[in-house]
Amino acid sequence: MQHNAEVPLALAARAVTKRFPGVVANDQVNFDLAHGEVHTLLGENGAGKSTLASVLCGLYRPEAGQVVRDGKEIRLNSPRDGLTHGIAMVHQHFRLVDRFTVAENVVLGHKSLSFVLATAEIEAKVAAITEKFGLPLDPRAVVGELSAGERQRVEIVKALYQGAEILLLDEPTALLAPPEVEKLFTTVRAMTHAGKSVVFVSHKLAEVVDISDRITVMRGGKVTGSVRRGEADVRRLAELMVGREINIVARRAKSPVGDVLLSASQVHLERDGTAMLTDINLEVRGGEIVGVAGVAGNGQRDLAEVIAGLRTPQQGNVTVCGVPTAGSGARGARRAGLAYVPEDRLGTGLAPSMSIRDNLVLTRERGFLVDRKSALLEAETFIKQLEIKTPGPLTPTRKLSGGNAQKVLLARELFALSGARVLVVCSPTRGLDVGAVETVHALLDEARDAGKAILLVSEDLDEVMTLADRVLVLYRGRITLERSGADTNVERVGRAMAGLAT
Ligand SMILES: Nc1ncnc2c1ncn2[C@@H]1O[C@H](COP(=O)(O)OP(=O)(O)O)[C@@H](O)[C@H]1O
Ligand SMILES: [Mg+2]
Repeated sequence: MQHNAEVPLALAARAVTKRFPGVVANDQVNFDLAHGEVHTLLGENGAGKSTLASVLCGLYRPEAGQVVRDGKEIRLNSPRDGLTHGIAMVHQHFRLVDRFTVAENVVLGHKSLSFVLATAEIEAKVAAITEKFGLPLDPRAVVGELSAGERQRVEIVKALYQGAEILLLDEPTALLAPPEVEKLFTTVRAMTHAGKSVVFVSHKLAEVVDISDRITVMRGGKVTGSVRRGEADVRRLAELMVGREINIVARRAKSPVGDVLLSASQVHLERDGTAMLTDINLEVRGGEIVGVAGVAGNGQRDLAEVIAGLRTPQQGNVTVCGVPTAGSGARGARRAGLAYVPEDRLGTGLAPSMSIRDNLVLTRERGFLVDRKSALLEAETFIKQLEIKTPGPLTPTRKLSGGNAQKVLLARELFALSGARVLVVCSPTRGLDVGAVETVHALLDEARDAGKAILLVSEDLDEVMTLADRVLVLYRGRITLERSGADTNVERVGRAMAGLAT
């Protein structure tokens, strides 16, 4: 919807500044929302999006600036104040009570609870909302048994039940498989159709273009630009997010693939009597990246751990460069030529009290005399290339922020520093900003060109689609799809991720 100057804006932030110790999370931010509009706030992690949304819903008080509703300044001291102005936020981390039913959660904390509402009446009202806005839910279902997507619907229904006219959705797609994202978009459209206004918060560039009437980009606490529907050029938006030019290109193997360097056959893994992986067969050849896509919790972690030797499967074989490794532990896999970048990088992999330089050379063969001076040079190069924020290569890694520690580990495992020919890399860019993502993708591409066999396990479907020569989908511990990266598309892979027929 076009913004009409005659009609007062539904909601606006005027020169909002909000500080946290050591950081200006919002620096004189201006943002407005017209009636019936979807206005997306786009930006990388830490850009200040959630902070702004929290100011707009009354969760945070800004140090300076105003919140304006329908042309008048409002002062919000709590989310409850926000609600009295028809403003509600759906947080990234849900705030529901697991053992209550959907209907109970919806009315929880609602002011009219002071006089007793008949359960049937609440359920009927909830059913009416779910119907109208395309939010399929059973009002009697217990929330603890619902999927992430369903819980999110409960939060949205709750906001609508409480009379929200303005909905602030903070990273609502983070936990959803692609078909669920489509459903959410249908709901968003139904809401704006009914005259409601939506602030849609996201760090995923690709998904916001379709749903948004306007997109405002934030970086480092500031607004860097704003575009209207139809003017949204993905590349321009990426530059606004990152603050410099970037290339978004699919990278595929340039040369013919080589021998099978990694294989798993008929792998079956159980934990506490439950099958976590069933009949897994895969091969990765030198010079190719095989991507494993899937919604979190479908066995990706177990698969990576079995291949890395951290778990021993009840059945099946794993070979690394021709050497059987199942049962020979992490050390055995490493010795056979495998490098492993786990998902949980902070707990594993780095020695926190050692310097960046020493961490970088940590896994080199024992007996290999490490030349400290050249290691220092290499470390300096990595710090520059990966934009690692640190005073220098001799800083202990425990002093680095999560994202920066992650880069050190990636540098060590991906570069020639590791002699490994097989790389198992899990969510390598999670938590990194777009610029660093580009660098890491370029590194993976280089490692592929150098003939390494790479298994890329990632929940980030875009990442898998831009890098993988072959794509596998893991669903409930089974491989349910295998396609060449160039021949498949996001829709098909997305359906497989959601357990649907492709
Ligand atoms: N409650 C908080 N306490 C301290 N710092 C915070 C808090 N919330 C956010 N920040 C900091 O403010 C900045 C913006 O964060 P946030 O608004 O959460 O960004 P985004 O939602 O865009 O990822 C970040 O540097 C973050 O670390
Ligand atoms: Mg956020």
